[in-house]
Amino acid sequence: MKKALYPGSFDPITNGHVDILERAAKLFDVVEVAILKNPSKDPLFTVEERIEMIKEIFKGKRNIIVSSFSGLLVDYAKKSGSNVIIRGLRAISDFEYEFQMALMNFKLSPEIEIIFMMPRVEYSFLSSKLVKEIYSLGGRLPDLVPPPVDRALVNKFHDF
Ligand code: PNS
Repeated sequence: MKKALYPGSFDPITNGHVDILERAAKLFDVVEVAILKNPSKDPLFTVEERIEMIKEIFKGKRNIIVSSFSGLLVDYAKKSGSNVIIRGLRAISDFEYEFQMALMNFKLSPEIEIIFMMPRVEYSFLSSKLVKEIYSLGGRLPDLVPPPVDRALVNKFHDF
């Protein structure tokens, strides 16, 4: 079975992530979305909330699953039976960080391949950080986030 891991913060998941996941799910038997439990970050959504949103978005898709992890990504990839890690690459600004991380992961675990996928052009400027900022200031982006995420963001920020 060809299994790939798609790790990240997903706080929250956007249509850019969904695009990559749907395309990756055509290339692999199973794609596991792995949410990092990061005690040093102050996320908007809890890991449990993020898991629930992703489950709802992909409820009809049996080869997209979701989990959370802590510790080293390469250790979790091995534990979950994935020898491929997928990362999205939007723009040149992503490149340096992704390049360093990929080479460091390769140093730690040369048997794990890291594959980069570009989002479709309409999502190439999209980030979870900007999405949060826009909703927090009263805006909405229903074309750029899945409906469960739009609802959750409206509940967080627009329900006074
Ligand atoms: O969505 P993000 O925040 O860009 O995802 C970053 C993530 C989760 C992929 C990265 O922070 C990570 O892999 N963290 C796990 C700890 C680890 O393995 N660190 C060494 C990376 S070289």
